[in-house]
Amino acid sequence: MKPELFLVVTAVICAAAKPLNEAAQRNKLLLVSFDGFRWDYDQDVDTPHLDQLVLDGVKAKYITPPMLTMTSPSHFTTITGRWVEDHEVVHNMMYNATTNQKVSHKETLTRSEWWDNGVLPLWITAQNQGLKTGSFYFPGGGANYSGQAVYRSLSEESGHPDDNETEWRQNIDEVMSWFSEEDFHLVTLYYGEPDNVGHAKGPDHPNRKKIIMQIDRIIGYLREAIIRHDLSNTLNVIISSDHGMTTVKKRPQVDEIILNKYLNLIQHASFEILDYGGFGILTPRPGKEQVVFDALSKAPNLTVWKKDEFPESFHLAKSKRLPPIVVVADLGFNLNSRFIVYVNKGDHGYHNGEMDMKTIFRAFGPDFKKNFVSEPFDSIHIYPLMCKLLQIKPEAHNGSLSVTEDFLLHSGGPSRARLSAALLLLSTLLAMFSPL
Ligand SMILES: *[C@@H]1O[C@H](CO)[C@@H](O)[C@H](O)[C@H]1NC(C)=O
Ligand SMILES: *[C@@H]1O[C@H](CO)[C@@H](O)[C@H](O)[C@H]1NC(C)=O
Ligand SMILES: *[C@@H]1O[C@H](CO)[C@@H](O)[C@H](O)[C@H]1NC(C)=O
Ligand SMILES: *[C@@H]1O[C@H](CO)[C@@H](O)[C@H](O)[C@H]1NC(C)=O
Ligand SMILES: *[C@@H]1O[C@H](CO)[C@@H](O)[C@H](O)[C@H]1NC(C)=O
Ligand SMILES: [Zn+2]
Repeated sequence: MKPELFLVVTAVICAAAKPLNEAAQRNKLLLVSFDGFRWDYDQDVDTPHLDQLVLDGVKAKYITPPMLTMTSPSHFTTITGRWVEDHEVVHNMMYNATTNQKVSHKETLTRSEWWDNGVLPLWITAQNQGLKTGSFYFPGGGANYSGQAVYRSLSEESGHPDDNETEWRQNIDEVMSWFSEEDFHLVTLYYGEPDNVGHAKGPDHPNRKKIIMQIDRIIGYLREAIIRHDLSNTLNVIISSDHGMTTVKKRPQVDEIILNKYLNLIQHASFEILDYGGFGILTPRPGKEQVVFDALSKAPNLTVWKKDEFPESFHLAKSKRLPPIVVVADLGFNLNSRFIVYVNKGDHGYHNGEMDMKTIFRAFGPDFKKNFVSEPFDSIHIYPLMCKLLQIKPEAHNGSLSVTEDFLLHSGGPSRARLSAALLLLSTLLAMFSPL
């Protein structure tokens, strides 16, 4: 072979073998979260836009949130790729077990000291690698991390209505203009529904179906807006959520759990958050740990754990913030401390193995396969997928790209089309160079 020909052949082979994404343009990414969207909420409602998404993109049968199926802990696992014991956002409410200070969920959203525990969320990592990012109401987006803020971050105010469809559309228009006019690379967009309706009315109430239809309409609106802003070929979208929802069991069907019946709380606990659905935390007074554990172990319809005896799959045992005792109610039971003050008809916070706690995953855009249904997976694996899409180097994390890589059109080595184009070029060149 002539040396020139050898060089040409080598170059063509190298080009063909180079993973496509190294050469490909970097597409933008929108992550949308609909709080409390149980995995099967679309199965008893007419949802034409969600159905169309199945054909146009990727759907997982369901996904499993991390243990601690609550809004802030679960969203922060998605955006960091770290288990709750590592990122330490162990509750929706910021608290200090020493001072007994407790801060409401909405207020906690902008308290950096609750979120910034040394684990960097995707926004900051992307910014450090030159990208422009934004957070529209997304939990964690309103805090600073090692002194760095998300480039543009909007935080929802307390008392703001969650279900205003006009506003939902305006929020999409605003986010689309961030992408198309200001060249953002990553935006996370959060909606407080269907969680709100799920709590207030319960997952079986007709209003839950109504809000799913509203969400379906907004997904249709999003898809139109993407076309209107000429983003179809450059914007990937992931739609997901943080946990499911289950119907709360109440009298007269069940005896509701009142923990003070089993344990004199004031005598035995120095700190507690118990009136918060199915997940309770408590710090025993000095020397009372075993008494507390034994007493609560006798209470029906719940499981009590010592922090250092958590099952490994919880990925909670290493947490410094969690108090020594955690109580998880059986599915549908609420934990009450002294009185029944909790009025929710639906709730979450239960064991993440329960089907009612599972949630959704959908994705579409230029880098995603079409009509691809994935087996269930853990939400922790979304993080490395997002890094891959944004072509950035991830932080150390607990996910695995191998779980989600299959969703992508060009997930590794040379794509078939690229390879055959290269082979065609190669044979043409060989024909040109070969002596007649
Ligand atoms: C709780 O408050 C105490 C007293 O102000 C303080 O010393 C401690 O560092 C706080 N704990 C946490 C985890 O912030
Ligand atoms: C983030 O840092 C900026 C600049 O130091 C500061 O103005 C802002 O209040 C901080 N925000 C939060 C939520 O801590
Ligand atoms: C819904 O949002 C729109 C646009 O922000 C606003 O004009 C309207 O008053 C809101 N409706 C309600 C019921 O809050
Ligand atoms: C709750 O606990 C009681 C007492 O142990 C038991 O009889 C009942 O079956 C439990 N309820 C459920 C729904 O598991
Ligand atoms: C999660 O990832 C962090 C960072 O790499 C690591 O320190 C930790 O041990 C991992 N957790 C598990 C359970 O593998
Ligand atoms: Zn939530």
